[in-house]
Amino acid sequence: MGACAWSSTSSSMSFGAILLFATVLTGAVFRPALSDPSDEACLTHLSQSLQDPNRSLKNWTKSTFANPCSGFTSYLQGATCNNGRIYKLSLTSLSLRGSISPFLANCTNLQALDLSSNFITGPIPAELQSLVNLAVLNLSSNRLQGPIPPQLTLCAYLNVIDLHQNLLTGTIPQQLGLLVRLSAFDVSNNKLSGPIPSSLGNRSGSLPRFNASSFLGNKELYGYPLPPLKTKGLSVLAIVGIGLGSGFASLVLSFTGVCIWLKITERKMALEEGKITQLMPDY
Ligand SMILES: *[C@@H]1O[C@H](CO)[C@@H](O)[C@H](O)[C@H]1NC(C)=O
Ligand SMILES: *[C@@H]1O[C@H](CO)[C@@H](O)[C@H](O)[C@H]1NC(C)=O
Ligand SMILES: *[C@@H]1O[C@H](CO)[C@@H](O)[C@H](O)[C@H]1NC(C)=O
Ligand SMILES: *[C@@H]1O[C@H](CO)[C@@H](O)[C@H](O)[C@H]1NC(C)=O
Ligand SMILES: *[C@@H]1O[C@H](CO)[C@@H](O)[C@H](O)[C@H]1NC(C)=O
Ligand SMILES: *[C@@H]1O[C@H](CO)[C@@H](O)[C@H](O)[C@H]1NC(C)=O
Repeated sequence: MGACAWSSTSSSMSFGAILLFATVLTGAVFRPALSDPSDEACLTHLSQSLQDPNRSLKNWTKSTFANPCSGFTSYLQGATCNNGRIYKLSLTSLSLRGSISPFLANCTNLQALDLSSNFITGPIPAELQSLVNLAVLNLSSNRLQGPIPPQLTLCAYLNVIDLHQNLLTGTIPQQLGLLVRLSAFDVSNNKLSGPIPSSLGNRSGSLPRFNASSFLGNKELYGYPLPPLKTKGLSVLAIVGIGLGSGFASLVLSFTGVCIWLKITERKMALEEGKITQLMPDY
């Protein structure tokens, strides 16, 4: 009786252990292939916000978004997976249009985002701040508009910020200088204005900072390391010069005018005098 009771407990315990073991095993084997809801939201929204007129994005379909990775293998063109999560997106030179969805921030394991050399418009979403693992951000050679979001400073691992050749406006956020790992920074050929933060333009402490080639081609951007004469200094000098020059020119012109008028009047008077003398009867 007692032995029977013990044996029944034991068998139920071992059944429980098998069940637990099976659950762990299933999780370990199948978890990487299961969909990740945040990656799925990210990819779904990104594919909706981007336009792909050349049909370059192979396999970017709804069914693949639910299951884009198998461990380290990706089924999506341009995507790299790491342990079942999207880890890199590299969609360069594919003639993509449209804009960058703020839901891209749901790809929370993303370490590299390269959308360079397309025709993408619209803003850089400030939501990218939640990509806390992001090391590479290359959005160069597009048609992005609006400001550089200062929130990017929250992506503390950023090594590369390449935004050259876009239509970005506003000032360069001072805070970006706080990114201690930043080793490449390029905002050349945009429509940025204002002073270059000294934290990016000048060597501060032991941090290597960036030379003029990172800042060239922004008409209203000024300060070190851009050459002083090609920016604000020159335009102010030019304005003063033009002002002084035109003032002086008009002075000279009116002076000449007066002189000529005087000369003419003098000659006229002389002529009149001559006429008068001629008209005067000789007595
Ligand atoms: C996507 O991100 C937004 C904003 O951070 C969040 O509210 C939402 O729950 C996320 N969606 C998924 C499926 O993770
Ligand atoms: C497209 O995705 C399917 C699975 O959804 C996969 O079997 C196939 O290999 C993928 N094709 C490419 C070109 O990656
Ligand atoms: C996309 O198509 C356009 C026009 O058909 C073509 O000029 C361009 O080179 C194509 N881009 C790519 C990346 O294939
Ligand atoms: C960003 O992408 C462009 C074009 O694909 C490439 O030429 C450039 O070197 C990249 N920037 C960095 C810092 O790697
Ligand atoms: C760089 O910063 C130092 C002090 O922080 C300053 O003395 C120096 O003039 C700056 N250099 C340039 C070229 O702006
Ligand atoms: C500016 O820095 C870049 C790399 O950051 C380098 O390739 C380039 O040669 C530098 N230019 C000058 C003029 O020092």
